[in-house]
Amino acid sequence: MITDGKPILDACCGSRMFWFDKDNPFVEFMDIRDEEVYLSDGQLVIVHPNTIGDFTNMPYPDNSFKMVVFDPPHLVWAGKAANLYKRFGKLDKDWKTELAMGFKECFRVLEPYGVLIFKWCETQLKLKTVLALTNEKPLFGHKRGKTFWVAFMKFPKQ
Ligand SMILES: C[S@@+](CC[C@H](N)C(=O)[O-])C[C@H]1O[C@@H](n2cnc3c(N)ncnc32)[C@H](O)[C@@H]1O
Repeated sequence: MITDGKPILDACCGSRMFWFDKDNPFVEFMDIRDEEVYLSDGQLVIVHPNTIGDFTNMPYPDNSFKMVVFDPPHLVWAGKAANLYKRFGKLDKDWKTELAMGFKECFRVLEPYGVLIFKWCETQLKLKTVLALTNEKPLFGHKRGKTFWVAFMKFPKQ
């Protein structure tokens, strides 16, 4: 199986900035791109996922992971030459559908009682607007500056 029995999925890993161990063997790192790009200050951003995949249509069976980390792009407007675009990517024009499908896929590939950790940066869109795109209810969250970390659990449907 493509998950190789790994218990954790990072659904859009980018350059894995927030990981303490960027090669943690228990994590399946997915992203839609595989590339190395230079920022304007000469810094190199390296994005080499284990699997190239789309979070709106993930290449994993249902109930595959104990934890999913979802840190999608948070920008709707960004020039292709901008550092933020090169590092974090950009949402589609139809970002509501894109993010709604992303949440749906995260919950599909989580096993029952699995945990979703969602990260959001309120640069252009409010957290409230984005959380309204899923029927799943967040458990708790933490805010630092403009960045939120929010935890969900996949509870069995009543
Ligand atoms: C906010 S960045 C992730 C940063 C990452 N968490 C880190 O620690 O470096 C968002 C990532 O989502 C990726 N992405 C954009 N659209 C995607 C999609 N449909 N499916 C999977 N990844 C996508 C971008 O390529 C970008 O690397």
